[in-house]
Amino acid sequence: LHYIALLPAAKEDIATSIDAFLAIPENFKALQSFEARNDDIILAGYPKTGTNWLEQILKDLETTAGKYTEEEINSRNSIEKEVPMISRLEFGDEKQFQMMKKLPFRRINTTHILPQILPQSIFKNKAKILLLVRNPKDTAVSYFHFYNDMPLLQSFNTWDEYFTAFMNGKLTWGSYFEYLIEWNNYIADDHVMVITYEEMKENQTLGMKKIAEFLGFSLSDDEIQTIAEKSTFKAMKEKSPETHGLFGKIIFRKGIVGGWREFFTEAQNKEMDRKFEECLGGTKIGEKIKYGIYC
Ligand code: A3P
Repeated sequence: LHYIALLPAAKEDIATSIDAFLAIPENFKALQSFEARNDDIILAGYPKTGTNWLEQILKDLETTAGKYTEEEINSRNSIEKEVPMISRLEFGDEKQFQMMKKLPFRRINTTHILPQILPQSIFKNKAKILLLVRNPKDTAVSYFHFYNDMPLLQSFNTWDEYFTAFMNGKLTWGSYFEYLIEWNNYIADDHVMVITYEEMKENQTLGMKKIAEFLGFSLSDDEIQTIAEKSTFKAMKEKSPETHGLFGKIIFRKGIVGGWREFFTEAQNKEMDRKFEECLGGTKIGEKIKYGIYC
């Protein structure tokens, strides 16, 4: 994982917003040098919405649908060894983006940032964007644990203190509410698809079929099934020492819907419902997420 190296920059100030986090001139400059291609796949999701999960699914769908020959796979593997992979687009540096230009196959990248600060070539060139959303209550709880468990992020003394920071967007990558409001402006585009964490949990196979269709991938039911089995929470957690090293334990925590009930007080629950309505009531994205909130 490359991203850990950049987290200290965010840690200096607990109130760091995404602007402050990316207010490193080299990062901004480098990000804009990423030139999106029409066949790129971008996985967009606020932290803790299940991006590691969906990223694995996307990669497996792509490689399976690609029906690559052994020779192609070997060549791809050797090229990938030469090009350091970027775990999140916003962590890329100039050199990495230059090298990525040479990749002769379809690229899949994940990002947590707002659409208006992403390289605009993503929209201009109509890269396929899969927007992953999760109900804000479980997202908040997941991010709380991430903050407290990740050694390089500042810990919060109490849930209540953290809750206030989440509600006010005073976290690395900013406000989840703002994130959703901004992305809502893009979801009518036919190169953008929204998927919820909750619908993936409810029926992963169906979710994967919808994603495959959006990407124009043709896969058999058996192929979908094989990928689904590899990407259950249990399977990914077990494999995480290999795939995510020491951070596996932090990232693959519980993997459930509705765990927020153990943390939210009734007043906090009402406060978030109110804020959600205020920010997202009547929006398409709000309707999608509502399904998740009350599960
Ligand atoms: P919890 O902390 O609620 O358990 P991200 O990958 O964006 O950092 O999101 C992490 C969240 O996704 C964690 O939520 C994690 O457990 C959950 N997750 C990761 N892999 C999953 C899987 N295969 N199935 C369900 N949830 C998964």
